[in-house]
Amino acid sequence: MSDILRRGRLSKTPGEAVRAYTSSMDADQWIFEADIYVDMAHTLMLKEQNIISEENCAKILSGLMTIREEGMQMLDVSYEDIHISLESRLIDLIGADAGGRMHSGRSRNDEVSTCIRFALRAELLSLLEELILLENVLTALAEKHIQTLIPGFTHLQHAQPTTFAHHLTAHADAFERDIERVISAYSRVNICPLGSAAFASTGFPIDRHITAQHLGFAGPMTNSMDAVSSRDFLIECAAVFSNIMIHLSRMAEELILWSGSEFNFVELDDTYASTSSIMPQKKNPDTAELMRGKSGTVAGSLMALLTICKGLPLSYNRDLQEATPHIIKSAGVTIASVHVMAGIMETLTVHEDVMARQSSAGFTTATELADTIVRDTGAPFRTAHHIVGTLGRSGDMPSLKDIDTVSADVLGYKLSEKGLTEKAVLEALEPMSNVKRRAGFGGPAPDQMKNALAAKRKRLALLQKEILAMNLSVQNALDAMIEEVKKSL
Ligand code: ARG
Repeated sequence: MSDILRRGRLSKTPGEAVRAYTSSMDADQWIFEADIYVDMAHTLMLKEQNIISEENCAKILSGLMTIREEGMQMLDVSYEDIHISLESRLIDLIGADAGGRMHSGRSRNDEVSTCIRFALRAELLSLLEELILLENVLTALAEKHIQTLIPGFTHLQHAQPTTFAHHLTAHADAFERDIERVISAYSRVNICPLGSAAFASTGFPIDRHITAQHLGFAGPMTNSMDAVSSRDFLIECAAVFSNIMIHLSRMAEELILWSGSEFNFVELDDTYASTSSIMPQKKNPDTAELMRGKSGTVAGSLMALLTICKGLPLSYNRDLQEATPHIIKSAGVTIASVHVMAGIMETLTVHEDVMARQSSAGFTTATELADTIVRDTGAPFRTAHHIVGTLGRSGDMPSLKDIDTVSADVLGYKLSEKGLTEKAVLEALEPMSNVKRRAGFGGPAPDQMKNALAAKRKRLALLQKEILAMNLSVQNALDAMIEEVKKSL
């Protein structure tokens, strides 16, 4: 048997069904590039620690450069994973005497976890860029719609008037917390298991700080057993992705509803819509529907990861291989969804006239009328709530006369006798004056919104700076390592 892994201990190779069942080669495409970097970092360190000679180091590194250029198609996919297949290709290229030394002082257990962290780190950085883009689109749209009235809903019933800016910024603030969550999760992804070997570390005098630094990680993981056993970083990221997808799904749901003729608040650009194969008049918000659907896929990945990891004893168990495809899938879907949502919102047609018309439909100003009665007549809020609630049964906007009729019944006197004027009633029933009065911190009043959006712009700029620094720290480390590789050839 020529299989470099099995030829010693095992005398038979698995049949095709078992090979396909146990192989991770498909998912391992995601870590191909990462594995080469990890191999390079490990090889450089082995030389720096005098574990392998300069000459063997040079041979290994040049072999790895060749494999990097060749890509995955030259790898023997009948091996059970990328790590062993890549090592086998290396040995084919440079011979067993040099190539067979690369795996000194490590195991596939620390190798695979390092590769996953390396690849996931890049996904998180892409996700952060897409989230910043989405934030910028939402903020710019909100800045345009500070004065655009819209009915706010609770229980999907018209509730109180607000502005489109206020509504959009509600979504944008949720995504801002998502950005913070990604950055926080990143700090627990960006640590290096390499050199933990199977779990008990190694007797070779390796230096785990060197490999961590070459690969741009913040540092080595502190316990070699934890380093190979844990996938909590996958669970955490999948939870962060799920949260993002749930935020997107809620937005998608609104866009779907608002595109219908009952609402007619917005229209998706044709590039995000589909039509019917039978009903020629249809314009369907399919892209938003798919986003709502894909949120289920990502939440499913989180459940899969939790269940795969549950009940696993320390340290490495092959079950962990089953976790990787779920993080690949959920990261990919989340990044694509954020990207697509930014496009949808950037090209959205907003029917301001319909929104404004609907902003007071369903007596959305009732709360303000009750508040006005309290402020102007000294009636308790619960009494005012009773009077306005009674008036609200007809669904029509009440006049001062209507109010007096009900108050005479409820209170035994007319509110106009206690200082309520026609002017105050009319103002309370006017949606824009409702909005303007909600001028407290976090409210929709245009001046308040202006301040909120300016503050948001400042926070986004800071986050963008932080993300740039994260990118640079990885890129600089990898560039420096490639320089060192080239010098060592
Ligand atoms: N393909 C494996 C995985 O994804 C790599 C580690 C294999 N380790 C082992 N002891 N069989 O987890």
